[in-house]
Amino acid sequence: MSGKEKQDIIFEIKKMKDEKNAIILAHYYQTGDIQDIADFVGDSLALSQKAASNNADIILFAGVKFMGETAKILAPEKKVLLPDMNAGCSLADSCKADDFKIFLNQNPGRTVVSYVNTTAEIKAMSDIICTSSNAIQIINSLPEKEKIIFAPDRNLGNYVLNKTGRDIIVWNGTCHVHEEFSLEAILKLKNENPAAKIIVHPECELPVRMVADFIGSTAALLQFTKQDKSKCYIVATEPGIIHQMKKENPDKNYIPAPPKDSTCGCNECNFMKLITMEKIYKCLKNEKPEIFVDNKIIIDALKPIKRMLEISEKLGL
Ligand code: 13P
Ligand code: SF4
Repeated sequence: MSGKEKQDIIFEIKKMKDEKNAIILAHYYQTGDIQDIADFVGDSLALSQKAASNNADIILFAGVKFMGETAKILAPEKKVLLPDMNAGCSLADSCKADDFKIFLNQNPGRTVVSYVNTTAEIKAMSDIICTSSNAIQIINSLPEKEKIIFAPDRNLGNYVLNKTGRDIIVWNGTCHVHEEFSLEAILKLKNENPAAKIIVHPECELPVRMVADFIGSTAALLQFTKQDKSKCYIVATEPGIIHQMKKENPDKNYIPAPPKDSTCGCNECNFMKLITMEKIYKCLKNEKPEIFVDNKIIIDALKPIKRMLEISEKLGL
């Protein structure tokens, strides 16, 4: 697409947003141009909070399916659009409803804490939802003696288990982006850039988390680079976040951490990157593909999501 064609599409998207009273919510892992046309850019927690409180009739989600479903559960009266229904999530896919039901039956009497990166069905089977921004606080908000199941990310689960010391059984799921970072390549980069700080998302594997100077959700990593005095960072999460880091501090240097095995040398989420400007344009124009969630699942999944939002609000997160 030429620069002029892209500008025309962006103009049309903005016009349609006004005419249809629509908003675009974009995750930090979207491409920079999509982040720039969004009404709101954030991590999973901030996006759920925004989906729960806005005056739009239409929410177009520039993100992946579980995020669109969460928006629909929080605002069932609104039309929620996802520009490409194939924008799934390997982590959400690693926890299928039928398998999870068996797992819960095998481990009765535990409070079920599910990461927001799950299907609506898994949320409906959960007691409380969390994101990487609030997982530790959500676990700590539960009574000390409470036995817990954490699903589906084993890396975030083990991170939270170590931080809280609670009785937690962790589901064995992973995100194909975050588990692929190469410790060896990160240490090589650190050797070449000794002043660089290694900043890591908690979905990364333990060896990568062990060499981190800072661990946090995408929003927390962004905040860290804003406040920290260093000039260079090795960033172990999806590189879309670097767009916002550069906007905040253009004079700093951000090096994407490389994966174990890739020809392109970067760790982009292929699901997130299915969303393009052209698809956003078509989606807003045709008002489809639209996210639908079964009414019973909406009712059951709303409770644990609301519980998370209420605790987060109380804690000022
Ligand atoms: P956060 O948005 O909570 O940082 O999670 C990252 C992620 O993997 C979203 O898909
Ligand atoms: Fe899912 Fe990982 Fe992509 Fe996030 S980065 S949407 S967890 S596959």
